[in-house]
Amino acid sequence: MSRIRCDRTPAWAALRELYDTQGRALDLRRSFATDPRRFERLSLQAPHVFADLSKNLLDATIQLQLAALARQSGLTSHRDAMFSGEPVNSTEGRAAMHWLLRHPGGAAARLLTPAVQDGLHEVHAVLDAMLAYAQRVREDAAITDVVNIGIGGSDLGPQMAVLALDEFVDHRKRYHFVSSVDGHELSTVLRQVRPESTLFLVASKSFTTLETMTNARSAKAWFEAQGGRDIARHFCALTSNVEAAAEFGISTTFGFWDWVGGRYSMWSAIGLPIAIAVGPQRFRELLAGAYAMDEHFRTAPLERNLPVQLALLDVWYRNFHGFSSRSVAPYHSGLRRMQAYLQQLEMESNGKRVDERGDALPYATSPVIWGEPAANGQHAYFQMLHQGSDVIPVEFIAVKKVAHDLPEHHHKLLANGLAQAQALMLGQHDAGGHRHMPGNRPSTFLLLEELTPASLGALIALYEHRVFVAGSLWGINSFDQWGVELGKVLAKAIEPRLSSGDATGLDASTAGLLSRLRS
Ligand code: F6P
Repeated sequence: MSRIRCDRTPAWAALRELYDTQGRALDLRRSFATDPRRFERLSLQAPHVFADLSKNLLDATIQLQLAALARQSGLTSHRDAMFSGEPVNSTEGRAAMHWLLRHPGGAAARLLTPAVQDGLHEVHAVLDAMLAYAQRVREDAAITDVVNIGIGGSDLGPQMAVLALDEFVDHRKRYHFVSSVDGHELSTVLRQVRPESTLFLVASKSFTTLETMTNARSAKAWFEAQGGRDIARHFCALTSNVEAAAEFGISTTFGFWDWVGGRYSMWSAIGLPIAIAVGPQRFRELLAGAYAMDEHFRTAPLERNLPVQLALLDVWYRNFHGFSSRSVAPYHSGLRRMQAYLQQLEMESNGKRVDERGDALPYATSPVIWGEPAANGQHAYFQMLHQGSDVIPVEFIAVKKVAHDLPEHHHKLLANGLAQAQALMLGQHDAGGHRHMPGNRPSTFLLLEELTPASLGALIALYEHRVFVAGSLWGINSFDQWGVELGKVLAKAIEPRLSSGDATGLDASTAGLLSRLRS
């Protein structure tokens, strides 16, 4: 696998020059005026997702050079290494094969290496068992509440998907997600449920995460205190640490593998809440949509490859324009947890300042990802997007057909999305002072025909691969997360001090706060 750090390629130097000579000053209104085909040339259809990139600070020369950057950095061989099951998660010595979780097998499996094919058999065995279990739970009228206990990747994906697929969800049951160790979360849910009608899913890849284990212990203690007896029926573990789950006392378990990163795990057993909510067939459609995007990423030429094009734009904006954040604006209330999901996916993957070998990088990496469902965002922070001192690229996500029968609402919603993108680009130049809007602010418009399991799967896989491409160009390992460890260790050391009051060796600020919390 020959990866060359992006700033050491000839294309990087060429892009620097391009930025100075034409990139910095690129004017979107002028670009549309001089090129009537700009929309056609800068839009792309990938499986289930149409992308309009034409309102971005790009032109044909810049795009060409960005594609050269991808080639010269060794992106395609790195991508192929991931799809061959090589240990691309180098700091942990593991493969990253979340894509295998959605592989349908059959004839297409012949392209896989023998070791990966073995993995696929295991994947399908667990998937079949898990979906059969999901179906039994769905048919079990005595179970009215499903409580997922998990955090990070063991929470965000399932929670986001269950909300997004509301139209397909079996609402005879209620779905709860408990993630934080903040006792308000668990106690609020426990007030609403009864032991005999609740299924607790303890979702944790490691089965050691402090928040999840604390919540799981408290849930089990509550269950037993309320007279609940049948742990095997009311508790199920989703984990790659089956032994720890057994030690905890849970015998109903669905496993997965160390080559599934937490934030890439909603396709594995971690997806069980989704499968219970929407059913086995819909869950398979989610996987199929993601697989279609995998195939697009694996085979489409870089110039027509949507994850690649979005990642190149990320690099262009972050490293040449110096934009430090990206706002995500889903124009569909079902996607209201999308930003939280993307925050983990992107920032935990690419929020790193060293390369694979641990050497400091001389350039910026992951932007800050933020946002709110857009109609709300419009009445909150869009002011800053239009007139603030920072340029913040915006990513609109809209859906053409919706499930409700309030067409007027949908037209208004879409009109607002289109108008915001237009206003960002056009600005308002005939007004002065407070009314002046500079315009030329870039945005991407992603459009789904409908929000279905398949299109959601494709959309999420699109983001996963985009993160991989940006991380690959930046020379980082997108699959580890060493930065979260220190806080966990320190929290463990601080916890007993809250009871004992011992502040020995603590910095003055932490000691001061500890003493106030105890007084
Ligand atoms: O925050 C760190 C992290 O390891 C995430 O990467 C992961 O998704 C989350 O914690 C939960 O981990 P687990 O599934 O092992 O409980």
